Amino acid sequence: MQITVVGTGYVGLVTGTCLADLGNRVLCVDVDPAKIALLERGEVPIYEPGLKELIQDNVAAGRLAFTTDVAAGVAFGEIQFIAVGTPAAADGSADLSQVLQAARNIGRHMTDFKVVVNKSTVPIGTGEQVAGILREEIAQRGVTASFAVVSNPEFLKEGAAIADFMRPDRIVLGADDTPEGQRALALMRRLYAPFNRHHERTRVMDVKSAEFTKYAANAMLATRISFMNELANLADRVGADIESVRQGIGSDPRIGYSFLYAGTGYGGSCFPKDVQALAHTARSHGQKLRVLEAVESVNDEQKSVIARKVFERYGERLEGRTFALWGLAFKPNTDDMREAPSRGVIAALARAGARIRAHDPVAMEQARAALAEDFRAEPALLQRVEFVRHPMDAVKDADALVIVTEWKAYRSPNFGLIKAAMREPLIFDGRNLYEPQDMQQAGFTYVGIGRGT
Ligand code: UGA
Repeated sequence: MQITVVGTGYVGLVTGTCLADLGNRVLCVDVDPAKIALLERGEVPIYEPGLKELIQDNVAAGRLAFTTDVAAGVAFGEIQFIAVGTPAAADGSADLSQVLQAARNIGRHMTDFKVVVNKSTVPIGTGEQVAGILREEIAQRGVTASFAVVSNPEFLKEGAAIADFMRPDRIVLGADDTPEGQRALALMRRLYAPFNRHHERTRVMDVKSAEFTKYAANAMLATRISFMNELANLADRVGADIESVRQGIGSDPRIGYSFLYAGTGYGGSCFPKDVQALAHTARSHGQKLRVLEAVESVNDEQKSVIARKVFERYGERLEGRTFALWGLAFKPNTDDMREAPSRGVIAALARAGARIRAHDPVAMEQARAALAEDFRAEPALLQRVEFVRHPMDAVKDADALVIVTEWKAYRSPNFGLIKAAMREPLIFDGRNLYEPQDMQQAGFTYVGIGRGT
């Protein structure tokens, strides 16, 4: 099949590349010439394991190409994926300007039947808005061209995006019950047929329910995390171990084990933005989603849990102290610093007068840029942060080691060497990477999240 993907951000690139890898011909369109030039040179603007190689293979095989030519993009694919950004506006709602502009471009240039697929995370009702714009543009040109708008939300996780795309739990398709909608559905089913050979993974529903499903999924996951973080804070007070509790409740199949890890709060580009956007949608319909609003405020507080534990130990003046910090990206296997808890931890420690020696396996450049932004009004604080090439360089003469992101490289370090290098053998572990008993045996004072330590 011939597919156009509008937007070469995270979701667009992964979608386009994976669809090409399945044997389709894919043209990815972006208005940013620098990004397209980079992709044409075989480089990739984001870090995602396996993506670069997959892009290169599919470009070489002639199945994947990139362009800034919007009209060529519209002409190319019978299916037009819209996969552009929907950042949070100041009031917490999703900013739809890029989605609506992409729809306008399609309406302006289309001459025959198009399936317009909303892949971006968009508020409930956006499908109708996109259809309205397409109708308007087509009418203005006085041509007859039919279309259907399909909602096909994406559930991939950064760092595991290719595997998530290629082995989906479910494929949600929202379409109207009209002849065009049914025609679109048949094409979408053909496109996704390779994933449905052994199990039918497609869930067909109306457009609004599909749009809602995406937000409901992220809101549910964020709720689990905030709930566990609150329980972890209580576990600290009562002297229980949240990790034992997680295993105890996770064995109930109604609860399950995953997404129950207490930590320094959720970050990234999706949960924070989608939780806010769904709460905003509810408010604009006269309903307050009380649980979800609590999920957000619990998360905001949880992001400072590590700094709080540091202050409990040393007081709020940290002049003369040096902290090693492992893990800057909001989670492992990505270089994404959006809403990363490390930013708040570094800001709190630096403002209290501490020096920070930070390490991350891939996000160091992005972290530098993110901190320059965070400290724009107080650039002197940047001087307190040093980025080091090796985790061991961070711990040398450090008063404590602070772990913020659970990269694999930090899971089994040489504790003997770490202890010998540090001023004091003390670990604040924001991701509960180690067992408190093992750490005690290794001679460390160990402060986890909800480990009763
Ligand atoms: C999330 C969803 O998991 C995807 O299904 C969805 O497609 C995506 O958002 C999106 O809307 O595009 P992502 O943000 O890439 O994916 O990352 P996650 O692995 O879900 O982690 C999100 C945050 O939750 C991270 O900060 C992570 O550290 C935190 N987390 C996750 C916890 O604190 N505890 C857990 O048990 C799990």
